[in-house]
Amino acid sequence: MLETVVATISLRHPVMNASGILGTHREHISRLVSYGLAAVVTKTITPEPREGYNPPIIVELPTGGLINAVGLENPGKNVIKELVEEAKKYSIPIIVSIGGRNEDEFIEVAVEADMNKADAVELNLSCPHTKGYGVEIGVDPKNVYSVVKAVVSTIKIPVVAKLGLSDRVVESAEKALEAGAKGLTLINTIKAIYIDVYSLKPVLTNIYGGLSGTPIHPIAVRIVYDVYKETKADIIGCGGVVNWQTAAEMILAGAKAIQVGTALMRDPKRIVEDIVKGLSEWLETIGIKEISQAVGLAHKV
Ligand SMILES: Cc1cc2nc3c(=O)[nH]c(=O)nc-3n(C[C@H](O)[C@H](O)[C@H](O)COP(=O)(O)O)c2cc1C
Repeated sequence: MLETVVATISLRHPVMNASGILGTHREHISRLVSYGLAAVVTKTITPEPREGYNPPIIVELPTGGLINAVGLENPGKNVIKELVEEAKKYSIPIIVSIGGRNEDEFIEVAVEADMNKADAVELNLSCPHTKGYGVEIGVDPKNVYSVVKAVVSTIKIPVVAKLGLSDRVVESAEKALEAGAKGLTLINTIKAIYIDVYSLKPVLTNIYGGLSGTPIHPIAVRIVYDVYKETKADIIGCGGVVNWQTAAEMILAGAKAIQVGTALMRDPKRIVEDIVKGLSEWLETIGIKEISQAVGLAHKV
């Protein structure tokens, strides 16, 4: 009932983790698997190891959600082999998230993921707080096309483009698909600032961070809706999914799978269980047999 196929990857149910929530070390993979996820996504990996920003790098907001500027800290591409090996032990699909400053860097990591037989790569074209990476590249649909095209022409495994909030997100999505992306992850965190009214300064050392969690959910649903309407692409919906209802909204807007980030930081096993069980019961209640039949239903009204 909950089986789904997204970007050619078959999943036993639609729930995976969002990149950045664990996924840089072997033992992270088994932890993610123990949460009951249908696939795991690594943290964004760059060719060389990167140190993150100085703390504070992540803060809970009084208005809900989190703001983070981790700075794409990761151990570099050599870790991919062990992450994939670990996921294969559990026969669970693994998607390697890739960060780069140019086409060559994306290709370098993508080749490593391909060689080690990851199930797909997710190109991070949307991180909003790391200079030279992410949204600085992904904001321009022309860049999205050239990075996706370069990677698709080099590797055999499916390529997913992860895009973020921008006025031209539908155009970027179209360009990613034209360049050969098999799917899209929508969306990343949204660039934001949190100011401490006593120290009179932005709280994060990086000043800017990415907003995640409940506050971004309606925006993420809107973007999934708009992109699905124009492209009918395979979409992985991400942003503020905290329970089965917020997951179901993503599916009705057009997502075939969903990723959970911020909400996994507290009681992850229960959250995954709640979403999986809740989605099954919901389908029964609305009289739909397969989740694929619910994808994009909100467009029919
Ligand atoms: C602490 C933290 C680290 C993150 N690191 C990454 C990352 O390395 N790569 C990436 O593409 N997204 C990263 N993200 C963004 C998430 O994958 C996701 O797109 C975003 O948080 C929205 O989903 P959520 O509201 O469920 O958290 C990170 C988010 C958080 C909170």
